[in-house]
Amino acid sequence: MLNVLNHPLITHKLAIMRNEETKTKDFRQNLDEIAGLMAYEICRDLPVEDIDVKTPCGICHTTTLAKDIVLVPILRAGIGLVNGIRDLIPTAKVGFIGLYRDEETLQPVEYFAKFPSNMPDAITMVLDPMLATGGSAIAAIDMIKKRGATNIKLVCLVGAPEGVKAVEKAHPDVDIYLAALDEKLNENGYIVPGLGDAGDRIFGTK
Ligand code: PRP
Ligand code: URA
Repeated sequence: MLNVLNHPLITHKLAIMRNEETKTKDFRQNLDEIAGLMAYEICRDLPVEDIDVKTPCGICHTTTLAKDIVLVPILRAGIGLVNGIRDLIPTAKVGFIGLYRDEETLQPVEYFAKFPSNMPDAITMVLDPMLATGGSAIAAIDMIKKRGATNIKLVCLVGAPEGVKAVEKAHPDVDIYLAALDEKLNENGYIVPGLGDAGDRIFGTK
């Protein structure tokens, strides 16, 4: 299911990131902040379990998170979403998937994978700022399903309708979360209006 997190703060910060004049430092800072805000919204429905906590003044019947959270950023750009989410969920474990898009074919090419062992029982969030053709997200989800992940959320900043449709078709069980659903892809597979090349803007490589 697609969830577009329409929130004034998220949209405001994303507008700063979209601006071509915004430099790496501000781009990264706003990405960190949006990641935290998105995590807050996404975690609303996490399963909880009952616990009793002894406070200095008595016993509190309350709840705690019932499942572990695993974050799996798609390298490189997905790394930009990790810190903001980990600030909110410091117990989250982090795996990594290295994929790049072949610039000619737009097909994802795998170059790295490292996962924590608790994926089968955890809630896994696959992180990537951009959902363009959907090829990278689909390949990443294929990889984590092979490691036993079943409860999967795809967390992206900006998505194109083409990518959303492709992921929904390939992985109908995965919930997709976006900060914005944009108009379309251009002839180079970039999201329009989008924000440009996320990896280059996060790491200052262009
Ligand atoms: C970008 C982006 C996604 C992918 C999206 O990564 O971060 O991973 O493209 O495109 P898709 O939906 O068409 O697969 P890129 O390949 O530029 O690598 P990078 O993160 O190393 O910059
Ligand atoms: N990857 C990006 O970084 N930006 C796009 O618009 C599409 C893919």
